[in-house]
Amino acid sequence: MMHDSGGVQMARVLKHATLCLMLLPRFLVAAVMLWLLDFLCIRKKVLLKMGAKQDSPDDPPVCVSDSNRMFTLESLRAVWYGQKLDFLKSAHLGRAAPNTEVLMVQERRQRVVSQYADIADFLVVYIEEAHPSDGWVSSDAPYQIPKHRCLEDRLRAAQLMLAEVPGSNVVVDNMDNESNAAYGAYFERLYIVMDERVVYQGGRGPDGYRISELRNWLEQYRNDRMNSHTAVLHV
Ligand SMILES: *[C@@H]1O[C@H](CO)[C@@H](O)[C@H](O)[C@H]1NC(C)=O
Repeated sequence: MMHDSGGVQMARVLKHATLCLMLLPRFLVAAVMLWLLDFLCIRKKVLLKMGAKQDSPDDPPVCVSDSNRMFTLESLRAVWYGQKLDFLKSAHLGRAAPNTEVLMVQERRQRVVSQYADIADFLVVYIEEAHPSDGWVSSDAPYQIPKHRCLEDRLRAAQLMLAEVPGSNVVVDNMDNESNAAYGAYFERLYIVMDERVVYQGGRGPDGYRISELRNWLEQYRNDRMNSHTAVLHV
């Protein structure tokens, strides 16, 4: 009995150590990047370059005000957490989409969503805050929201989103952050799920967050569907 639990504990420690080792290289790269971004001349250049790479007006530009420090204990903690979630997520392209528990906030429908309403349902899953007022603070955040301590906090914050989000249904992640973990969603991420499978997996936001990619996928899908319908009619 004693031996067993010792073994189990050892396995857990080993697993954790392996995870740390595997994540360390990309974490260090991100940390150096954040450190460099605190030199405003470098930040300006990097943001300019990132802006130039964005060739679609759909993709929101990454903006960081000069007053925001990028290299802090909280930012490093947030980046580590995000990379860990990404590494451990269970959602993978082409595989079954995790069916996590979420809570309904309100149903809504607006313009952008209605463009693809014939082929897709849109769902916004509000997860934890990327820039809570008691964590990695950002003066660019439109609202000052502390870390959610309970579901009521989260639901209240999600209500704010309803006013801003262009359409779609809004639900919130549960307090175990199950959806966030399964989809490696932190800070933000786009997915397309079809027949319970992941058919599109966007990159990690903010830099990997590309609405244009999502739009391209949906356009392609719609075209393919129309073509196949035509083919059937010809036969
Ligand atoms: C989920 O995230 C919230 C922050 O929004 C945090 O307070 C809570 O402890 C997290 N839950 C777990 C199980 O990690």
